[in-house]
Amino acid sequence: MQVTDLDRVRTLIVGIGALGGTIATRAAAAGMPVRLAMRTAESARAIRSSGLRVSGVGGPAAAASVEVAALEEYADRFDLVLLATKAHEALEISQLLSHRLAAGGTLLCIQNGGVAKMLFDRLGEVVLGGLSNLGATMVEPGVYEQRNAGHLLIGEVNGGASERAERVARFLGGAIEMRTTPDLPGAVWAKLLLNCSVTTIGAIAGRTMRHYVATPAGREVFRRAYDEALAVALAGGTRPQRMIVDPIPPEGEYDAWIDRVLEAYGDIKPSMLQDFERGRRTEIDFINGYVAQLGRELGVAVPINAAITDLVHRIERRELQPDPARLDELARLGG
Ligand SMILES: NC(=O)c1ccc[n+]([C@@H]2O[C@H](COP(=O)([O-])OP(=O)(O)OC[C@H]3O[C@@H](n4cnc5c(N)ncnc54)[C@H](OP(=O)(O)O)[C@@H]3O)[C@@H](O)[C@H]2O)c1
Repeated sequence: MQVTDLDRVRTLIVGIGALGGTIATRAAAAGMPVRLAMRTAESARAIRSSGLRVSGVGGPAAAASVEVAALEEYADRFDLVLLATKAHEALEISQLLSHRLAAGGTLLCIQNGGVAKMLFDRLGEVVLGGLSNLGATMVEPGVYEQRNAGHLLIGEVNGGASERAERVARFLGGAIEMRTTPDLPGAVWAKLLLNCSVTTIGAIAGRTMRHYVATPAGREVFRRAYDEALAVALAGGTRPQRMIVDPIPPEGEYDAWIDRVLEAYGDIKPSMLQDFERGRRTEIDFINGYVAQLGRELGVAVPINAAITDLVHRIERRELQPDPARLDELARLGG
């Protein structure tokens, strides 16, 4: 994104769900020059007549009139495309989106896990990575709730100082809290380690981490999934950043370290469990599946992450249900 006059940044937000809808509402309410892309012309028409509203943390905001259309209806070029679909859809439409970028344009992706890196490998330097610590839900199309005072953290996919990340942050900062980092890989892996362990294992067990880690099998599966993912990060040359808890368990202090993880994340209902409950496709291929794929490429053993990925696919297909007994099966795997 090269435009220096922030009023002239031609911006397209793609995916007007929980996160994209929250950002789009706050941007449109602030008078920012954003256009919105939805999956179908029908859903775009509905938003055009209803407008957008957000409530919750950060205060209420509304935009009665928004420029919105189905993605394929756009023929224009944009300086900034903010990609806020789920991971699979991001991969599916990325090529199309690259043709919607103006010269020097930026595609900012904010999905968890390996998405930004995969898109960078396909599309190159146009891709800027991001992570959302902002939590949001969609009450119904056009109506969103911001759940926390979080921010979007953005930076270059392979790390390094970035003038364009600063510009994008200044622009989007008109809508939501933005931060930049020269170490996006470290931040992405810090979150990925927790998603691979705290979140996915909780979803498989149908329990919070505090519940499942109290059993020997739950504790064992957590330790092995986390250690494998950490080994993959380090083998790939990334040291995960510290978030609330040090990402590398200190030697000889494992129990105290687990307690700190529990204190920070032990009572969160796993978002993947909500995907199971709603019969929605999960993002497992970009979380444990991504770790398993990278592990194979780097020669790091990843049996638990591979088995977790398969298990989640079976739960998605309704062949199995989330149950703590699943963790006994995983713990019995050799490794
Ligand atoms: N929500 C959060 O609090 C949060 C926090 C951190 C990270 N994230 C990450 O942010 C990403 C988005 O999450 P979300 O919760 O906002 O998901 P979501 O509510 O499912 O929103 C995704 C939106 O993308 C739309 N979409 C799908 N394919 C499209 C296409 N081809 N063209 C245009 N729009 C399309 C979907 O429309 P349809 O309904 O028509 O399919 C849906 O409205 C995920 O990767 C998630 O992991 C979310």
